[in-house]
Amino acid sequence: MKPSHTWAIVTALLGFALWRNGRSSRNILLPTPDFPHGYYAEGSHNGHCSVVKDASNDMKFCEDAVFWERVDGSGAAVNKVLLLSCDPNRKAWNTVMGPLHDPNPRGALWFYDMGAEPRRIALEGYPEGHDFHPLGLDVYPSQPSQPYSNLFVVNHARNGSTIEQFTLSWDAPDRARWVRTLSGPELVAPNSLALTSPTSFYLTHDHRFTRRLPGVLGKTLPLAESILALPLGWATHVNAEDPDAEAAHTTVAPYVAFANGVAISPDGTQVAVASTTLCEILFYARDPHTQALSLSARVPTPFAPDNLVFDARGALIVAGHPHFQSVVAVAENRTGVSAPSWVVSITPESGAEHGKGEGAAWEAGVPVPASRKVPRVPGYELRTLYQSDGSAFSSSSTGLRDAETGVLYIVGLYEEGLMVCTP
Ligand SMILES: *[C@@H]1O[C@H](CO)[C@@H](O)[C@H](O)[C@H]1NC(C)=O
Ligand SMILES: *[C@@H]1O[C@H](CO)[C@@H](O)[C@H](O)[C@H]1NC(C)=O
Repeated sequence: MKPSHTWAIVTALLGFALWRNGRSSRNILLPTPDFPHGYYAEGSHNGHCSVVKDASNDMKFCEDAVFWERVDGSGAAVNKVLLLSCDPNRKAWNTVMGPLHDPNPRGALWFYDMGAEPRRIALEGYPEGHDFHPLGLDVYPSQPSQPYSNLFVVNHARNGSTIEQFTLSWDAPDRARWVRTLSGPELVAPNSLALTSPTSFYLTHDHRFTRRLPGVLGKTLPLAESILALPLGWATHVNAEDPDAEAAHTTVAPYVAFANGVAISPDGTQVAVASTTLCEILFYARDPHTQALSLSARVPTPFAPDNLVFDARGALIVAGHPHFQSVVAVAENRTGVSAPSWVVSITPESGAEHGKGEGAAWEAGVPVPASRKVPRVPGYELRTLYQSDGSAFSSSSTGLRDAETGVLYIVGLYEEGLMVCTP
């Protein structure tokens, strides 16, 4: 397709999207020029936030990060570290946003023990010639009775996306032993996962039509699906308990527009799924026995939400992209552009707090208050934790908060290192 044709199609789709999706499209299609260099809710940005890198600056373009906890016999966390999934080759191989130029250079997993230098995790036993482009990942807590934790990683391999299973031991956390590859026609566009046991998980699928489709279809259908926010993504529950059998996939949340991050609340009763293109978080009540989900609330976000993580107190930390075209421009190597970052917490409100901060005043003091973009949803308090025009930290894709220390960690899809903000 000629670039001028592509541009005409994109412009037409954008116009249609603004008309069809109203507020949610305006939030991410119209630029917000007054984003700050960096804003941190708990203190001055430069005094409290800094970017952690490894010595050779290989830990970059990280899409996801999770806490890996070590628990004692009662299940209480006694220690925790961070695991990150990064792919410095993302600009040459990105099955979600493009391009599909070169799948050869492998991405990597990283281990970060707070305060120490990040360490690359060696993938032991990983098949020669098998691609590694990690996206969503999750790891089971390290138990006193179990020598290993199971780690599952979405892998955007050249011939189709897979899920790689590894084991990781607390004594040698910089070595992951490869166990097996889950593959099959069910894995259309896997994005993010959240473990429900050592061998089962919720899994989101961001698109029905992917860039892997041949020719002009792969160039137009996924773009139309994204820009029009068509509800063609979904979430499944995957059971991979039997090591010798194919995993069993059950759809638990159909028809989600660009289903992206997924997270389970600490008490196991709720699941949150990010709908990236509709700019909202879907909260589901969860039946822990059947893994069934039923939609209980939709909370709009002032940006396109990417990954989600509940902190230990039950606040959902949401990172995302406030300006769609900037992320696309960065993915396309355009010079002089930077994708802004925004991280919020969404906390269910107790009855007493209900109604607090109604009206125009909420988020006063935040450079770009969420109140300018989204209405308040009764029962949920949304609060900005971090904001940047991209010059301090760009393209935020995951935010995690340690509920004990209050420390906020952020990774960025096209950014180097790990942002750490300490209150
Ligand atoms: C962007 O640049 C990288 C090299 O830095 C290259 O591999 C990739 O193909 C480029 N992407 C596009 C869309 O041109
Ligand atoms: C991808 O598929 C092609 C054709 O089916 C095959 O030749 C090739 O070995 C596969 N590559 C990988 C990395 O699996």
